[in-house]
Amino acid sequence: MSKFIIERSSPLSGEVYIDGAKNSALPIIAACLLCAGGDIFIDNVPYLSDISVMCRIISTIGAKISRLNEGKGIRIGCENIRPVEMPYELVKKIRASFLIAGPLLARFKKVRIQLPGGCAIGVRPIDLHLKGFSLLGASVKQEHGVVEISCKKLKGNEIHLDFPSVGATENIMMAAVLAQGKTVISNCAVEPEIVDLADFLNKMGCKIEGAGSDSIKITGVEILSGCRHRIIPDRIEAGTFLAAAAATRGEIKINNVCCSHLRAVSSKLKELNAEITEGENHIKINAKNIYKNADIKTMPYPGFPTDMQPQFMSVLTTIAGTGIINETVFENRFMHVGELNRMGADIRLEGRCAVVRGASRMTGTQVKATDLRAGAGLIIAGLCAEGKSEISDIYHIERGYYKIEEKLKKLGASIKKVEE
Ligand code: EPZ
Repeated sequence: MSKFIIERSSPLSGEVYIDGAKNSALPIIAACLLCAGGDIFIDNVPYLSDISVMCRIISTIGAKISRLNEGKGIRIGCENIRPVEMPYELVKKIRASFLIAGPLLARFKKVRIQLPGGCAIGVRPIDLHLKGFSLLGASVKQEHGVVEISCKKLKGNEIHLDFPSVGATENIMMAAVLAQGKTVISNCAVEPEIVDLADFLNKMGCKIEGAGSDSIKITGVEILSGCRHRIIPDRIEAGTFLAAAAATRGEIKINNVCCSHLRAVSSKLKELNAEITEGENHIKINAKNIYKNADIKTMPYPGFPTDMQPQFMSVLTTIAGTGIINETVFENRFMHVGELNRMGADIRLEGRCAVVRGASRMTGTQVKATDLRAGAGLIIAGLCAEGKSEISDIYHIERGYYKIEEKLKKLGASIKKVEE
């Protein structure tokens, strides 16, 4: 098993390039299963373990996949897929595997798939996904940890989501594109990854309007064809580098970003008194004069992203004063607090709030990544702590960040990856 060795670093400086968005590529790869009419070319795909697992999952049911231009591109052909059950060993590796339910239901009117488990950050139920499938006319049966969804035909309907779930919006959208008639999904998620998926589906011949608003209208079609698509930049990877620069009071330029996807994060950084400059497809931060503390409340997009919460908690530990973080999206997304406190942070949990008393003396020690973003938060804390930090279980981090240690090293960070 590998680990990261991190030492206190000087203020980060230089330029970094952001990869394609993991949380856009995953549903888009699943959506390829809808298409029986020709190859699909997807560019700017991040080279991550989650992406490889999703590709392995769809290839077990017959998808033909080849990596292009040094792995940044993927060609996928799904003419000859068959709705067989996927190996649980693969399905359980990533929760996003459940996103193949919608496409397979739409194409074959039947899908059997193991229920995705919970994970470190919460129970992660799928009730909203299943409610949407039922409203489209499917019957849903759950037993022995497997869910079987089937129907004679899918018929468009009005579906209101109790919560703007990203995954449920994506799965229901993918099920509805081949249904008969019109579907309206209201109170749906409005994340940029939803818009990217809708753009991709429309390139294949689907008829989707309103993605990015809280009501998506879908008119069912019969035939889909191959297409080309480029994945949007990863706003969470970009936000993570902004947070690393903020914590070390550095000055960096981040290329290949969509600044409008980073509004909540940029606005919070300005509240800390960081200087943010936006360009056509880059963003700059000068964090030398950060001194103010701030409170954070995570919300569905366009609110402050829950996927940026651990990283910003590490930023707040470097600022004198008290910041309160209210995690409203996931019920158990404070696993990093114990590890930060072991490094000397002064963070107290009160229900779904973390009270962060900043500018305590942080010292390096051995810590463990519990999930993808918690691990990113620990890296940022390690860059600011005196002495050496060792982060184990870094496979969590590598699910969402390609060679993060190389990118940080280029910015002047003292970080290296070693085999345990
Ligand atoms: C997506 O997960 C992302 N993953 C998550 O990123 C992200 O944190 C999350 O959206 C919120 O932005 C991918 O896109 C692959 P949700 P998802 O359904 O779709 C509840 C990362 O670090 N809920 O919007 O699973 C759920 O319990 C990952 O990259 C139901 O109650 O998130 C949670 O409290 C972590 N019933 C809330 O909604 C349901 O049927 C948000 O979940 C579905 C969800």
